[in-house]
Amino acid sequence: MIRVLVLHGPNLNLLGSREPEIYGRTSLTAIDRLIREWARRTGTAVTIRQSNSEGELVDWIQHAASRYDVLVINPAAYTHTSVALRDAIAAVAVPAIEVHLSNPAAREPFRRQSYIAEVAVGQISGFGIDSYLLGLAAARTVGQRQSDRPRRPMQSGRSVMARRRRRSIAKT
Ligand code: DQA
Repeated sequence: MIRVLVLHGPNLNLLGSREPEIYGRTSLTAIDRLIREWARRTGTAVTIRQSNSEGELVDWIQHAASRYDVLVINPAAYTHTSVALRDAIAAVAVPAIEVHLSNPAAREPFRRQSYIAEVAVGQISGFGIDSYLLGLAAARTVGQRQSDRPRRPMQSGRSVMARRRRRSIAKT
C-alpha cells in the first residue's frame, strides 16, 4: 500500500474564510475529508498534518524518511521564503509533490519564486481543492514508479562476509 504524507503549511487552517475569492469557500476540514475519502477509494494510506510553524514542518519532513513513499505538500507562504523546507525535502529520500490551490505564477511577482519547485518531482497549481486530488493522483503514480523500480537482490550479511573471506583468501 502506498503511504502518502500530506502537509498543509501556514494559514491554510483558515481556508473557507481566508480570502475566499482566491482560495474558495471550502474549509481545511472539508478538504481533509475529501482526501480521506479519496484514500479509502484508492486504497492509499494517508496521514494529514497542518502547521503554521516552519520548524514543525521541517520536523515532519525529516520524520517522513522511510515512513512514507511520497510527500504531498502545500507549503503556502513558505514556498516563497523557506530554504529550510527546501533543504529538508532535499535531505530525505521521499519524493515531494508541491500543490497550490491558487496559481502563484499568475499573482504577485514575489509568488513566482518557489524554493520548493527545484526539489519537488512536480507542481500542481491553480485548480482549487482539485489541486490536492490531482496531487494525490500524481503521488500514486510516483509511489508506484518507486515500487516498480528493479531492486538489487538483498544480500545477507553472511554471503557478503563469505565473499570478502573468499577475496582475502584469493589474495594470499
Ligand atoms: C498557496 C499560495 C501561496 O502563495 C500562499 O502564500 C498561500 C497559499 C495556495 O495554495 O494557493 O498561503 O500555497
